[in-house]
Amino acid sequence: MMAYTNFIMKKIAILTSGGDAPGMNAAVRAATRTALCNKIEVFGIERGYRGLLENRFKKLKSADVSDTIQRGGTILQSARCPEFQTDEGTAKAVATLNEKGIGGLVVIGGDGSFYGAERLTKNGIPCVGIPGTIDNDLAYTDFTLGFDTACNTVLWAINNLRDTMSSHSRIAIIKVMGRDCGDIALYSGIGGGVEIILVPEVKLNVQRLCKTLENGYKKGKKSMMIVMAEGVGSSHELAQDIRSITGHDVKITVLGHIQRGGSPSMMDRYLGTSFGVAAVRCLMNAKGGRVVGVKNNEIFDMDIFEALKIKKVFNKGLYEMAGIVSK
Ligand code: ADP
Ligand code: F6P
Repeated sequence: MMAYTNFIMKKIAILTSGGDAPGMNAAVRAATRTALCNKIEVFGIERGYRGLLENRFKKLKSADVSDTIQRGGTILQSARCPEFQTDEGTAKAVATLNEKGIGGLVVIGGDGSFYGAERLTKNGIPCVGIPGTIDNDLAYTDFTLGFDTACNTVLWAINNLRDTMSSHSRIAIIKVMGRDCGDIALYSGIGGGVEIILVPEVKLNVQRLCKTLENGYKKGKKSMMIVMAEGVGSSHELAQDIRSITGHDVKITVLGHIQRGGSPSMMDRYLGTSFGVAAVRCLMNAKGGRVVGVKNNEIFDMDIFEALKIKKVFNKGLYEMAGIVSK
């Protein structure tokens, strides 16, 4: 942890970075109001690290975050900004924050955004990270902001697809997001009661998959649902393989960015609010270089350097359980 002596927090800034996620606005709102209640000025930086390099600071009052908790996306907007990762980019960002007298920065984003926060912390800017990504790929926390809402959107799609697939005895492949992480596929697949969940963490065996499909039809199932994480590969190639091996009709639905939008679920509003409060409390206690998270229903903070070292372990037990109950 970076300790800052003789440190009185007068101004903080907040940014959202990388892929937006439902619940980010709840976090911005809570962080803003917690700071204002403690007589700390708050600046929203628009468009993540890009806005930091382009000096896009906006003073936030309490009313600026009214009517936002229920909205998806991010009112501060987001961006991906490779220039920030260069030494010149970081130096410019640090100079800008120092010129404006910003004593601490709340960074809401995924692991890439946290590497940026780590870099700023190393350069003397106290940063606190809030995990905001639908992918749930940050190992130090049980859940990231946006994951629950994204899974609920996938569930909605599974339910609708089930109706039409069952009417025609078809097989559906539903391609979901998550980058290299299979959590969206795993959790929404369990919730949707699908027959097959494909994740990048478990090697795909097409022959075995086709056998499971055949057995399902033999048992009297009217449809087969396959939730496929994007990290697994091409849904079109898989559909073609299934068609040629089984002779069954296969339809593909790629959900895409629809999973990233929408009004946040109760869970994402609760987590966003709790994370926002916890992040500002860290800064008020002169704790920089931290991340906030949730473990066993407890909100906690920890060192950002340590958090980024933790490797995500795939929940094999859950995956195997899903396989058993779908048969
Ligand atoms: P996410 O935060 O959702 O993982 P990205 O990986 O796109 O999204 O990262 C968001 C931004 O964070 C990048 O555009 C870049 O500005 C910054 N960033 C990413 N990786 C690093 C890094 N290794 N060092 C410093 N900044 C980084
Ligand atoms: O990290 C969130 C995420 O939605 C991933 O699931 C996906 O792979 C990626 O971002 C898509 O990024 P973009 O919106 O830049 O296409």
